[in-house]
Amino acid sequence: MTLLVTGGAGFIGSNFVLDWLAQSDEPVVDLDALTYAGNLQNLASLEGDARHVFVHGDIGDRALLDRLLAEHRPRAVLHFAAESHVDRSIHGPGAFIKTNIEGTFTLLEATRAYWSTLQGDAKAALRFHHVSTDEVYGSLTPDAPAFTESHPYAPNSPYSASKAASDHLVRAWHHTYGLPVLTTNCSNNYGPFHFPEKLIPLMIVNALAGKPLPIYGDGLQVRDWLYVGDHCSAIRAVLARGQVGEVYNIGGWNEMPNRDIVHTVCALLDELRPSSEGPYARLITHVKDRPGHDRRYAIDARKIERELGWRPAETFASGIRKTVMWYLDHADWVANVQSGGYRDWLATNYTAR
Ligand code: NAD
Ligand code: TYD
Repeated sequence: MTLLVTGGAGFIGSNFVLDWLAQSDEPVVDLDALTYAGNLQNLASLEGDARHVFVHGDIGDRALLDRLLAEHRPRAVLHFAAESHVDRSIHGPGAFIKTNIEGTFTLLEATRAYWSTLQGDAKAALRFHHVSTDEVYGSLTPDAPAFTESHPYAPNSPYSASKAASDHLVRAWHHTYGLPVLTTNCSNNYGPFHFPEKLIPLMIVNALAGKPLPIYGDGLQVRDWLYVGDHCSAIRAVLARGQVGEVYNIGGWNEMPNRDIVHTVCALLDELRPSSEGPYARLITHVKDRPGHDRRYAIDARKIERELGWRPAETFASGIRKTVMWYLDHADWVANVQSGGYRDWLATNYTAR
């Protein structure tokens, strides 16, 4: 038994791989293109661990996919790989179309071809698990009910439109070809190994460096926030017990405006690493809003709780404290990301061996 994970050097993928191998001896083949967001240092603790096979490659490379599937014969494909940052999608949508739509298409086709070679129990057991986002549902008004799995799709950014397209492809490959798929749509994650271009890690590293904390617009945009370890446990539950062809929304039951998130981070830093210059909130600055900025996301996570018995283990208070402490304890990881040094890791650690 083996899992094929795509994007396992990114934020959520690396957390998933580390959590998986902490609880299971089932090996993981980890395919990642190591874009700017892929960081093999996230997986440094697995060095020398034969259960983790890292493959540097692109999900758009059909020949590579065919070879990996034939060689490792995974019982599941867990698809995390994506371009994931909304602001980057506004500046350069091309990579989002290429990886999130065309890459997912190629992965689906390769998995379908491999699945068609399987027989009996192995064929019935195969799963293609597509990791997606709540952003595909678009923006909610302040009092509207939270997103359920039947909420209409209304993506507003190039990122969310590309993820919506990939969700539709996954659905169609199930309905048309019978491919045994699972799709999860999750809210905003936070936790260790989060690339500091996203709100929470950016605020932590900027505050520690005495740099401005840029809040877009009025800062009253609302997101639901989930600790990344809880996302990983939800994916494990869906992979183990989810019904083929079904969609599960994953959320933290924790809606918060961005402004409150930033103030919470500042207050934790004031407690854990006080600055001689005064409270970190002094660094907050309001900057021009993001174009097409969705006002509110909220997840109704009752289906996954009812059907699979999953609920988040962390509260926001416990998860954000762990997260801030992780960044304080991993200044070397932050420094390597900021200097770009993490991109040399492949050469330093692998090529030179
Ligand atoms: P990330 O940007 O941190 O990591 C993405 C990883 O995919 C990187 O390691 C990158 O190198 C790799 N990758 C990119 N293009 C590739 C390609 N063509 N071939 C192979 N690998 C490639 O993203 P993340 O935050 O870890 O998100 C993982 C998945 O979860 C994405 O599909 C995202 O849409 C989804 N998601 C993210 C969040 C969130 O809050 N971060 C919430 C819900 C869903
Ligand atoms: P982000 O972490 O980019 O995730 P997403 O856009 O996928 O939800 O942003 C989270 C929220 O924080 C979003 O409403 C945009 C806002 N934001 C800021 O106000 N300032 C920033 O510097 C960043 C990166 C995000």
